[in-house]
Amino acid sequence: MTPLIAGNWKMNTTVEEGVTLARAVAEATAEARGVAIAVLPPFTHLAAVRDALRGTAVAVGAQDVFWEDSGAFTGEVSPLMLRGLCDLVLTGHSERRHLLGETDEQVGRKLAASLRAGLRVMVAVGETEGERDRDETFSVVDRQLQAAFAALGDAPPNGSDVVVAYEPVWAIGTGRTATPEQAEEVCGHIKVAVRAATGIESAQVLYGGSVTPVNAASLFAEPSIDGALVGGASLKAADFAAIVAAAAPAVAG
Ligand code: PGA
Repeated sequence: MTPLIAGNWKMNTTVEEGVTLARAVAEATAEARGVAIAVLPPFTHLAAVRDALRGTAVAVGAQDVFWEDSGAFTGEVSPLMLRGLCDLVLTGHSERRHLLGETDEQVGRKLAASLRAGLRVMVAVGETEGERDRDETFSVVDRQLQAAFAALGDAPPNGSDVVVAYEPVWAIGTGRTATPEQAEEVCGHIKVAVRAATGIESAQVLYGGSVTPVNAASLFAEPSIDGALVGGASLKAADFAAIVAAAAPAVAG
């Protein structure tokens, strides 16, 4: 499976800074082979970043989406509006679940609406530190995945349209990366859970949470880790490119 390295810019950069960063990412990763690359800027940047990246290998994604196609939902952005601006959309990021109260059910509705609109969807799941301490990691990611896929009803998704990002909440933005063994254990579990829920034989599963140029290669050496969702390090083109480079040899062959 071609590894995917996605940069989640979160609520950072002005439009102008985002365009500059996107160009720098394209330039710094131009020699990369055998790796898929995406950047996820804020909604406000999507058109400009898409234009800046035209003709490059760097894809564009959105950080969130709403579950209705149109209507009286002030401030929200629908999957239909994203069509043409980006190919990929993230849903269920822990900052949205924990800071904004997004529920498992809402994440499922976002997944279903985005797939209906022809977008590729990255569903983020992961446990808090307390949940890990209580040995609830598997039950939490199972609950999050089951709720997400339940929203699809009987229509099984196309395997290439769904990516899962395992992001332990305690590792996000903290500098405390999961060990490769911890990340592998849960990513392997997620593949089995996705297969049971959807029939997708081997879903693409990324790890996210304090991925850096220093720890990336050891994570990518694990068999069930098919890339990374990168936050902080995606704001520096050189660091992001180093993570992309670390993914290329590890999964090739
Ligand atoms: P981080 O963020 O790399 O800064 O830990 C990852 C994410 O939230 O997707």
